[in-house]
Amino acid sequence: MSQSRFRPDVRPASRADLAGAYTKDIAHSLARMVLKRRHRTSDVVDSEYNSGTWSKILKDRAWLLAPTLEQFLVGDNADARLAKVDGRIVQLSYRDYYRYRIGALSELIARHVDAADSLLEIGTGFGYNLFALSLDPRWRRLRGLDISANGIEAGRQIASHFRLSDRVTFGRIDLTDPADPGFAELAGATVLTYFCLEQIPHLVEKVIENILRAGPARVVNIEPSIHMLSLTKPRDFASRVYIESMDYQTRLFKFLDELNDKGEIRVVARERMEFAPTLHNDGFLCVWEPANIVVAR
Ligand SMILES: C[S@@+](CC[C@H](N)C(=O)[O-])C[C@H]1O[C@@H](n2cnc3c(N)ncnc32)[C@H](O)[C@@H]1O
Repeated sequence: MSQSRFRPDVRPASRADLAGAYTKDIAHSLARMVLKRRHRTSDVVDSEYNSGTWSKILKDRAWLLAPTLEQFLVGDNADARLAKVDGRIVQLSYRDYYRYRIGALSELIARHVDAADSLLEIGTGFGYNLFALSLDPRWRRLRGLDISANGIEAGRQIASHFRLSDRVTFGRIDLTDPADPGFAELAGATVLTYFCLEQIPHLVEKVIENILRAGPARVVNIEPSIHMLSLTKPRDFASRVYIESMDYQTRLFKFLDELNDKGEIRVVARERMEFAPTLHNDGFLCVWEPANIVVAR
């Protein structure tokens, strides 16, 4: 990073804070499971993202009011929240969390991509992660692909507004369609998914096969997992019921282990994420490479 990493002023969450927050969180998830159990089809994903969050982002154009890209990413919400920072659940303001996250994400990705200076995020939304990474001059080219037309359009407008259109670019892909022309961009690329495969729970193996067939140099998956959770810990239990209630994917990491055992991929790193915006959104990282890399990075 060009600037020194932001260290937020945090207050450790008390046992009482945590007990109350976990109880509420778990109760919400259980109620969702009972009252409106979701089946995460592409229509549900479209209504939550393309016609939902990304449509609102595009309509609001909040970047026009932000003096800098960093301020757009960080926002101005000073309310306190519980979040995971450096592996601990703490109290801090929303804006401090998002300022901290810029450095935390940059360091995490840098640790896992060797000397790559370009990155392709699939399921990028409007490119929040790519814009955060663009604050680090090490990245020459940041490319985001998504199925959502509104996400792509917002990303393009943000890049243009902050004069980043030469470094941060966007295009379309449907990861479930093996014939999608967007897969050509994965050949030889360092590829990131960040809470994207979670949205495609019923086709996760097919999507990984599509990615593998496209010949990436390296893939960094940052996604939820259930089989790395320990259900005796309240945080893991909260994540587990949340994932089930939202019908997010649960099979990715097991499938990657199977491909590794069969010699089709080589898993080169795994870790649990040290940061998360909520109690239940714990992510895990798995970095892998196709066993037979044919295209130079
Ligand atoms: C939870 S959002 C994450 C966005 C981004 N990675 C981030 O961290 O801000 C999931 C994204 O996956 C995209 N997505 C879902 N299904 C997809 C598919 N079949 N092909 C490509 N993108 C898809 C959605 O449109 C959405 O933008």
